[in-house]
Amino acid sequence: MRYQSLSNKLLKPDCMIWQYFMLGAFCLLFFILATYKLTNLYSEEEIQLYSPSPIMKISLAQFLEAKTLLLENILSDIEFLEDEKNKKIFFIESHMDAMRILDNPRHACSVESAAKTNPDTQIFFILTTKSNQMLLKYSEIARALLSYDNIHIRFLNIYEFSKGTVLEDLFVHKKILKSKYPIEHMADVLRILILNRFGGTYLDLDVLSLVPLKKINQENFACPESDNVVTNAVVNIGYKNHEVMEAYLHKLSISYSPKEWGANGPDMFTDSIRQFCKGVNLEKRNTTICGNFTTFPSEKCYPIEFDGYWMFYSEESYKNVTEILYATQPYFLHIWNKMLNFSKQEFRLVYSGHSTYVELGKKYCPQVMKTTEKYFR
Ligand SMILES: *[C@@H]1O[C@H](CO)[C@@H](O)[C@H](O)[C@H]1NC(C)=O
Ligand SMILES: *[C@@H]1O[C@H](CO)[C@@H](O)[C@H](O)[C@H]1NC(C)=O
Ligand SMILES: *[C@@H]1O[C@H](CO)[C@@H](O)[C@H](O)[C@H]1NC(C)=O
Ligand SMILES: *[C@@H]1O[C@H](CO)[C@@H](O)[C@H](O)[C@H]1NC(C)=O
Repeated sequence: MRYQSLSNKLLKPDCMIWQYFMLGAFCLLFFILATYKLTNLYSEEEIQLYSPSPIMKISLAQFLEAKTLLLENILSDIEFLEDEKNKKIFFIESHMDAMRILDNPRHACSVESAAKTNPDTQIFFILTTKSNQMLLKYSEIARALLSYDNIHIRFLNIYEFSKGTVLEDLFVHKKILKSKYPIEHMADVLRILILNRFGGTYLDLDVLSLVPLKKINQENFACPESDNVVTNAVVNIGYKNHEVMEAYLHKLSISYSPKEWGANGPDMFTDSIRQFCKGVNLEKRNTTICGNFTTFPSEKCYPIEFDGYWMFYSEESYKNVTEILYATQPYFLHIWNKMLNFSKQEFRLVYSGHSTYVELGKKYCPQVMKTTEKYFR
């Protein structure tokens, strides 16, 4: 009875203004609460505990001003990409959650370092998901990256992209998602499909670019990590359908291994190079040139081996690492982020500290470093 009379009352024309006012007030309250929630999602303590996110730290003014950022499909750049004359570097983030992607200043640092070191090269930061893409516009890290004209954040649909390739079956029947290491395997396989189709340089997200590709002045290269194991964290391919990539794709299509971590990556890559190089020894310390493929000495990409990963994080090692870098003059630097146990305090770098990683960050990825405030997580 009361409801009925109230609704009758609200529906009367002379009450319309009141109705709009209430609706407006409700919307405003909702908007304020939503904004508050977004900007204060994480308390300072949580930041210390879980080391998340500069993503949500954004002022109301910035929020209102930001245009929506939606991920463009990489195929929208197809003409540019397929032209071998164009220089491009690819990074692939195969985690299925955009929050994680945009919450990682160390990954972003690698992307920025590539853009800053190679201003004449287009950098493609490829995501394999569109989920949470709306959050891009709140990401200070995305803003820092997009302040470079040559960085492009793009979406790649793995099913669409693998269609018509020898790996179609692997993706279409979702075999790769049933793997024991779906994220790693996806990244292993995608980099090969991309390099085979477009040529260019692939870099892992924990690889800093220290020397311009122009200066390296070499095409078709990679670096061994030990004798006869060439790692796929840094790969340059000068032209489409390079014989090494074709051999690799063929191997993947017939003997993709869903259970072993490294089987589809370095092991298979090395087999493909050895096949191309007719079994020549790929020595860790030497440059090996076989036809139009070259392996540089290990130290040009991996001057500090994976078991020394902690040296990048320790202030005490700063001097030693600097000496190693001076002696080896690497082109790239693999930081071995994947080795880290992020719940350990020692790897949560303090911005004002003098670890090698922080110092390199300030030099090679200054815009991303500015978003990190206290911690370079
Ligand atoms: C590797 O390089 C070193 C120094 O240039 C040389 O002495 C050595 O013979 C090389 N090894 C091979 C197998 O070519
Ligand atoms: C690269 O080397 C392979 C094997 O020697 C050869 O078949 C191919 O034509 C070469 N490609 C180019 C572009 O030089
Ligand atoms: C630095 O190198 C020296 C000489 O190789 C070594 O004795 C020392 O333990 C190293 N320090 C650190 C922190 O790695
Ligand atoms: C990481 O470090 C934390 C704290 O020291 C420890 O409890 C945890 O077991 C470690 N995790 C792994 C995977 O080593």
